[in-house]
Amino acid sequence: MTAKVIDGKAFAATVRAQVAEHVARLHEENGLQPGLAVVLVGEDPASKVYVRNKHASTIEVGMASFEHRLDAETGEAELLALIDSLNADPKVHGILVQLPLPAHLNSELVINRIDPAKDVDGFHISNVGLLGTGQKSMVPCTPLGCLMMLRDHHGKLAGLNAVVVGRSNIVGKPMAQLLLGDSCTVTIAHSRTKDLAEVCRRADILVAAVGRPEMITGDMVRPGATVIDVGINRIERDGKAKLVGDVHYASAAAVAGAITPVPGGVGPMTIACLLANTLTACCRANGLAEPEGLTA
Ligand code: GUN
Repeated sequence: MTAKVIDGKAFAATVRAQVAEHVARLHEENGLQPGLAVVLVGEDPASKVYVRNKHASTIEVGMASFEHRLDAETGEAELLALIDSLNADPKVHGILVQLPLPAHLNSELVINRIDPAKDVDGFHISNVGLLGTGQKSMVPCTPLGCLMMLRDHHGKLAGLNAVVVGRSNIVGKPMAQLLLGDSCTVTIAHSRTKDLAEVCRRADILVAAVGRPEMITGDMVRPGATVIDVGINRIERDGKAKLVGDVHYASAAAVAGAITPVPGGVGPMTIACLLANTLTACCRANGLAEPEGLTA
């Protein structure tokens, strides 16, 4: 079997188009413009690229983008004061503090200062608790993107065996909660799991989010399974820089029923879901119906 390739780039473009259409309608019918504030502290080169891309995508869908760049030595009090002012600003519906923060800043304290209703990353402890108890919350963007692709491919997910490899707070744990919310039978595997290959082979849906290049190989994939590769690993092969996932693509694609490539799979969905979350936050803040198909 050769797997169907799930085109995350095309899917993300569809999500962004849906967001843009909804944003235009909000403007016409309600005189509203969703706004996203992104806070970057310091000069981390990868973070600067992410922030630039977020800004461009935000503008492209018709939202307001508020960028706050602070220097690397910014103190905690100053950063918290900025978050307080964004929490109080009615033009700002979503707030994202780009991670990692410089070492002298306490990320947990900073993230938990964001108004949970504006926490479009879904990292605030209140949103984590709401998701864990099956209540309405803001959902982390990457797992939300994976869920959208899985629903699109499978229709209903109820009863499917899902194995999530990786237990991070940003991807693995919320992904497992979302799959449970859609009535999958969920296993969370990780670096200490015994006989990982055997556990993975039980999966109808296999989500790889371990951060280890090409760790999930074809022999670990059940024939016909759907494989979602969250990994983005920069490696050097044959003297060339290369981007690979957590899944060994060639061997997995020979066995799987469907698979996301790297690049062009999960990656583009993350920013699309950030925009979707900002739109959702704006609708909720104004007592309006949430955008259909763009939430968990
Ligand atoms: N840094 C890398 N990915 C992310 C993300 O999804 N959200 C935030 N806030 N920072 C990041």
